[in-house]
Amino acid sequence: MSPHTVPPVVSRPAAKPVDAWDSFGFDTRQVHAGEFADLNSGLRVPPIALSAGYVFDDFDDQVNRFAGVPAGASGRFVGSAEASPGAIYSRQGNPTNAVAEQRLTSLEGGVDAVAVASGQAAISAALFTLAQHGDHIVSTASIYGGTRILFGRSFKRFGIEVDYVWDAEDDAAWDRAITPQTKAIYTETIPNPRNDVTDLARVAAVARRHNLPLVVDNTIGTPALIRAFEHGANIVVHSTTKFLTGHGSAIGGAVVDGGNFDWEAAELSGRSYPLITAAPRPGAASMLDRFGAAAYARAVREAVVNDIGPTLSPFNGFLLHQGMETLSLRMDRHVDSSIALASWLEEQAEVEAVDYAGLPSHPLFALAARDYGVNAQGTHARTGSVFGVRVRGGIDGAREFVNGLRIFSRMTGIGDTRSMVIHPLTSTHASFTAELNDRLGITPGLLRLSIGLESVADLSCDLRAALDRV
Ligand SMILES: Cc1ncc(COP(=O)(O)O)c(C=O)c1O
Repeated sequence: MSPHTVPPVVSRPAAKPVDAWDSFGFDTRQVHAGEFADLNSGLRVPPIALSAGYVFDDFDDQVNRFAGVPAGASGRFVGSAEASPGAIYSRQGNPTNAVAEQRLTSLEGGVDAVAVASGQAAISAALFTLAQHGDHIVSTASIYGGTRILFGRSFKRFGIEVDYVWDAEDDAAWDRAITPQTKAIYTETIPNPRNDVTDLARVAAVARRHNLPLVVDNTIGTPALIRAFEHGANIVVHSTTKFLTGHGSAIGGAVVDGGNFDWEAAELSGRSYPLITAAPRPGAASMLDRFGAAAYARAVREAVVNDIGPTLSPFNGFLLHQGMETLSLRMDRHVDSSIALASWLEEQAEVEAVDYAGLPSHPLFALAARDYGVNAQGTHARTGSVFGVRVRGGIDGAREFVNGLRIFSRMTGIGDTRSMVIHPLTSTHASFTAELNDRLGITPGLLRLSIGLESVADLSCDLRAALDRV
């Protein structure tokens, strides 16, 4: 054979790429779920689809898309199912964001997800789909300060009242708080900033008893540490700004539908969810009739996000689906470093207490170990990397500590590669009364730490130098 002869082709077709990832492991799904093959260009990484709208093939195609006729296998649908209607406009969905939505759906174990512009937009869209003027929501008291502000200001102005249960394990307190107008129970997996983990199974039992959907903010847990649907949640919300995107570069949020709430049974028990179960106009089918188990997500997308408009930029959607590719690796490191630093901080003379449920000394340690598992040594529970530390000396101690840090960034933010510190009493909780902050445990000496991916030795040196000033 001359050196220029091309060897004969052995004609065996290449294996078909996988297109349904749900039966694969978490680490495989975080890399692949939701990706699509671009047959025109062969691009390997799903690209940023910057287009406000979509062309219609012809007049009838436009009619069909507006009528919500399923797009079938054309690939030109928004949502996770071929039953989804054809795409109309990027305010409802976009192929780049769809990669992120389907990846997160797979990681959380839900049936569909809707990406939105921020975590606050996710909480709002999730709850506005369930509740309207005159309705009521019951929440655990220990939640992110911004969510409490959202509930106390905008929700109130829209006529949706939120009441709080202070002890999530007190079933009678839940029963007292829930009224015929209640439309949802709301909680966080690992509350920000106290790290006082919620017993989801217990709260889910209360929700089931009252035919209420349980909405859980899993921003700090992430599906790498806890999959809230497996503990009885029905809807999961995220600030994807944090660990999911992972690098502190893009604001975003998402609502994930567990597909496990019985809307008809709730309706029969007297709790109505018109955006899901009612016909949008006489003679038209309800979301439940059209989309079955994924009806809630469809209502979030079509009836709330499309109306109000908190759409995620496809640019941020790209950063989100890329960030999720390394989620479990980053979370392992975040957690190991947090365990090392929380245990070390607890021993320091300048520290009064460390609010990290993963520590054996924490009152919620047994619950934390049950729901989040333990580290390789079996000594600590894996409750994320956002926690509180109380330094001695009150606000003066806190000021010295914050000013003494050089690697930790002084900023509002959590859950990215960098370590961060903030003083909740004078920032996230500054608008609350002294009584409320006392009750929430937001004391003058409390600092919120978010442990990043830097060397633990460097972080502990930084913390030591700051504690020397306290
Ligand atoms: C638990 C939690 N939920 C929601 C949010 C709000 O997210 P975003 O800042 O993306 O609107 C935050 C922000 O810190 C948070 O910590």
